[in-house]
Amino acid sequence: MNYNKKTVKDIDVKGKKVLLRCDFNVPQDKATGAITDDKRIRAALPTIQYLLEQGAAVIACSHLGKPEPNFEKWVKKQTEKGKDPASLTEEKWKASLEKLSLAPVAKRLSELLGQEVIMAADVVGSDAKAKAAALQPGQILLLENTRFEKGETKNDPELAKAMADLADLYVSDAFGAVHRAHASTAGVAAYLPAVSGFLIQKELEIMGGALASPKRPLVAILGGSKVSSKIGVINNLLDIADTIIIGGGMAYTFAKAQGGSVGKSLLEADWLDYCNDMIAKAKEKGVKLLLPVDTMAAGEFSADAEPVLCDTMAIPDDMMGMDIGPKTIQEYTQAVKGAGTVIWNGPMGVFEFPAFAEGTRAVAKALAETDAITIIGGGDSAAAVAQLGYADKMTHISTGGGASLEFLEGKELPGVACLLDA
Ligand code: 3PG
Repeated sequence: MNYNKKTVKDIDVKGKKVLLRCDFNVPQDKATGAITDDKRIRAALPTIQYLLEQGAAVIACSHLGKPEPNFEKWVKKQTEKGKDPASLTEEKWKASLEKLSLAPVAKRLSELLGQEVIMAADVVGSDAKAKAAALQPGQILLLENTRFEKGETKNDPELAKAMADLADLYVSDAFGAVHRAHASTAGVAAYLPAVSGFLIQKELEIMGGALASPKRPLVAILGGSKVSSKIGVINNLLDIADTIIIGGGMAYTFAKAQGGSVGKSLLEADWLDYCNDMIAKAKEKGVKLLLPVDTMAAGEFSADAEPVLCDTMAIPDDMMGMDIGPKTIQEYTQAVKGAGTVIWNGPMGVFEFPAFAEGTRAVAKALAETDAITIIGGGDSAAAVAQLGYADKMTHISTGGGASLEFLEGKELPGVACLLDA
């Protein structure tokens, strides 16, 4: 995959209308709709400000959540979730869409930019067309949620063309959505000159650099609950990393595969052979694969459960692993201390419960204190680092959850592949 892409600096944007795909998929308070974390909006500011200063008219767009733009399909999905079909009215469906309007994003973006953000009532409808046509250099328009259009997630060429018709150039800065081959993230690039914004450029440079020519040793820390969701990453990193550290719920499938007893711990029985294959492959390639030697277990999955220290290979039948233990913490933090680059994806335990957050906290602290290049994949690990107060100590925290995972898997990202090569 070629990460060397043209950026906004490589094209003349003055006086042009620029369709700018951002990832404004921000968390909102369920009751009030208030944005609870505006990091993704802030992350798009450098590109937006640059384009406005250069005299471009910016037509920003993004998805938010997973709205269902087809009423019949919405009814089907709600019914499958157990809702009474008689209660599923068109008004309720419209209300579900309204909740995912980008209007609150326009308001926050306007506060951050210190200028008006004009909001369109649709994506490629009459309102968006009229407002885009009237947009002047230095002004910014935000289209409605791209997923309100049926063709968005299907990468419908007609929708992509209609979006492209609003503008002269396409800039993507939506790193969090580059793993989606949707009309606004990839399809549109077929109809306009397409380059990256500063956020995508930064993500590609730092993460791409860490994979292509890392400062060694490269230590990859992989956690989270499921082996099955990390297969691609483990496979890819076995060819690149010097050390792979396994933590989180997936460690128990590895322990079981090695003949351990893991009690009621998370277990993916279908992946036992895979774990053994990975252990063998690591040996063959000379990659150190570290598995937890001790575990903080509990009788139940609860914040109040009493932590009990046990050997990872001998977790009592009535207990489940919830965090890595002190000997493992010692070994893992030691590996981080000697690293040149650390890539971290997935927590070491149930860090949402303070009694089982120690492993994740200790690893985050080790990353904060090392001189190594530290890269945090988005999603849970980014949330953990922020929650534990170490966010500003990391070299880079990716804004992409699924996107950074697919990046680490070495997969081609459609939202990057569609941009012009540098
Ligand atoms: C994310 O939050 O990871 C991105 O915005 C992608 O969202 P999606 O998983 O709904 O495509």
